Amino acid sequence: MNRLLVTGGAGFIGSNFVHFLMEHTDARVTVLDKLTYAASRESLDGLPADRVSLVVGDIADPDVVDPLVADHDVVVHYAAESHNDNSLTDPGPFIRTNVLGTFTILESVRRHGKRLHHISTDEVYGDLEVDDPERFTEATPYNPSSPYSASKAGSDHLVRAWVRSFGVHATISNCSNNYGPWQHIEKFIPRQITNVIDGGRPKLYGAGLNVRDWIHADDHSSAVWTILNEGKSGQTYLIGADGERNNLEVVQLILEAFGRPADDFDHVTDRAGHDMRYAIDSGKLRTELGWKPQYADFGEGLTRTIAWYREHEAWWRPHKQQTELAYAAKGQ
Ligand code: NAD
Ligand code: DAU
Repeated sequence: MNRLLVTGGAGFIGSNFVHFLMEHTDARVTVLDKLTYAASRESLDGLPADRVSLVVGDIADPDVVDPLVADHDVVVHYAAESHNDNSLTDPGPFIRTNVLGTFTILESVRRHGKRLHHISTDEVYGDLEVDDPERFTEATPYNPSSPYSASKAGSDHLVRAWVRSFGVHATISNCSNNYGPWQHIEKFIPRQITNVIDGGRPKLYGAGLNVRDWIHADDHSSAVWTILNEGKSGQTYLIGADGERNNLEVVQLILEAFGRPADDFDHVTDRAGHDMRYAIDSGKLRTELGWKPQYADFGEGLTRTIAWYREHEAWWRPHKQQTELAYAAKGQ
């Protein structure tokens, strides 16, 4: 598994995975990325040029995808439109990239007999009540809520169908909410950190009681690497690090880190169809493949992430004003 094609490798989690590979393996990587608004070339800065290269292109274009797939051992498929709020204002790109793009990759790995690992999300399972004792498992029925999660559910179903119908060698992982360096400031944690750096107030959708199950992007990367090496073809693995927190708790941890009062935030317009709670049981991955997360303490990972955004203002600053204007226009 020496030559990996990593789609979406200039985005948040994909770039963290490429950094992980450079640090922990001897793999060579080609990143295939369209460089949408969510990507940044800088997230790949400093990586060894003899081991990492970037091809700018669209995963929904078979003329781009096919020769690259033919030339690599494994495809690790991160590329997607990833932000729920954007899928509520303009769902079209989500269907094109997440569904048609995954179809294009599947046809290519089928044609060339290559291995695929498909990166997906816990959101395909819908949401849980706050007091539900259950967590998502690999057996939880699909029940997506938003255009984003429905498009990811669709892509998962395509992968499963290509495994069953055509014998494609593929695995799927469904992970919970990631945090860490290089995350676009439209997302919850970096939006609030950069608001506070700017002297502004965090913005909580609704009452702020929605729960997300946070995992550091490094732990997501180590889980994917474990599945690539140990996972069984056709199987799905849930990835999570027991990091459940409600949004209010996360905002108050951020405020505390900056020495600001615990009530120094705004409640803003809630997200339409807002999922209440996600929670992952990653027992299969831990028991069958022996994986465990390194960031056992969310507070420690959050502190390091805050430090990263403080030190990398030049990376996020160019996007801040436009991102906030778009939110303000929606009352968020
Ligand atoms: P991101 O938005 O930060 O990055 C997505 C990357 O895909 C960008 O670099 C973008 O340019 C690229 N891309 C988009 N459309 C493309 C196209 N048509 N062709 C080629 N490249 C394209 O997203 P992320 O948060 O890093 O998420 C990566 C993957 O992980 C997605 O599949 C997402 O569904 C999944 N996921 C994300 C999370 C999370 O918390 N962010 C959790 C679980 C799963
Ligand atoms: O669960 C995995 C999913 O996590 C991934 O599949 C998605 O790609 C990823 O974006 C993330 O989805 P969420 O919608 O959970 O993440 P987001 O960062 O947009 O929001 C996290 C929570 O914070 C959610 O309950 C909405 C809330 N929120 C978000 C923003 C941007 C706020 O309260 N205020 C905000 O300003």
